[in-house]
Amino acid sequence: MPYQAIPRIAVLCFALVSSLLLASCEQVENRENTGVQTLNFTTYTGSVNAVFDANIGGKTCSASGCHNISGGSGGSFKIYANATTTSELTANFISAKSFANLVDPAQSKLLLEPLTGIFSSVGSHAGGDIFTLGDGNYTIIFNWINSPVSP
Ligand code: HEM
Repeated sequence: MPYQAIPRIAVLCFALVSSLLLASCEQVENRENTGVQTLNFTTYTGSVNAVFDANIGGKTCSASGCHNISGGSGGSFKIYANATTTSELTANFISAKSFANLVDPAQSKLLLEPLTGIFSSVGSHAGGDIFTLGDGNYTIIFNWINSPVSP
C-alpha cells in the first residue's frame, strides 16, 4: 500500500467513527423539573425571621458578633438584623433556606447548629446552645422547613 494512502484511510476511519458516535447520541429534551420545591416566604417573614432577632437566653442570632451580615463571624449563615424591607427579608430567607434540609428537616444545619448537644454532621456551634429539641423557636423553624411549597 503506497504510504500516501495512509492519511486518507485514517481520515475516512475517523469520519466513520465520528458519524457512528454522533448517530448514537440521543436527542436530549429540556423537560421542566416538576419535583422542585422551595420554602414558604410568607411563613418566613411572618414567624421564622423573628426567631433570628429574638433574645434567647441572652443570645441573639442576628447580633453583630454572630450572624449579622455586616461583620458577623457566623460562617456563611449571614442575615440582616431587624430586617424590614423586602430585599433584606428576601436575602435572609435565601440565607436561612440554604441551611435547610427539605428531605430530612431535622437534619437541617439551621436547626442542628444552635440545638443543644453536639451532632456529628455539624460539630459544635461557636454560638453555643440556643434551642432545645421541640422548644417554641425550634418548632417554628422545623415546621417551616417541614412545609415545602412548589415555586
Ligand atoms: C437561633 C440562632 C442561631 C442560628 C439559627 C445559628 C445557626 C448557625 C449555622 C447554620 C451555622 C453554620 C454556618 C456555616 O456552616 O457556614 C452557625 C455557625 C456559627 N454560629 Fe450560629 N446560629 C445562631 C446563633 C448564634 C449566636 C447567638 C452566635 C454568637 C454568639 C453564633 C455564632 C456562630 C459562629 C461563630 C459560627 C461559625 C462557627 C461554627 O460553625 O460554629 N450563632 N450558626
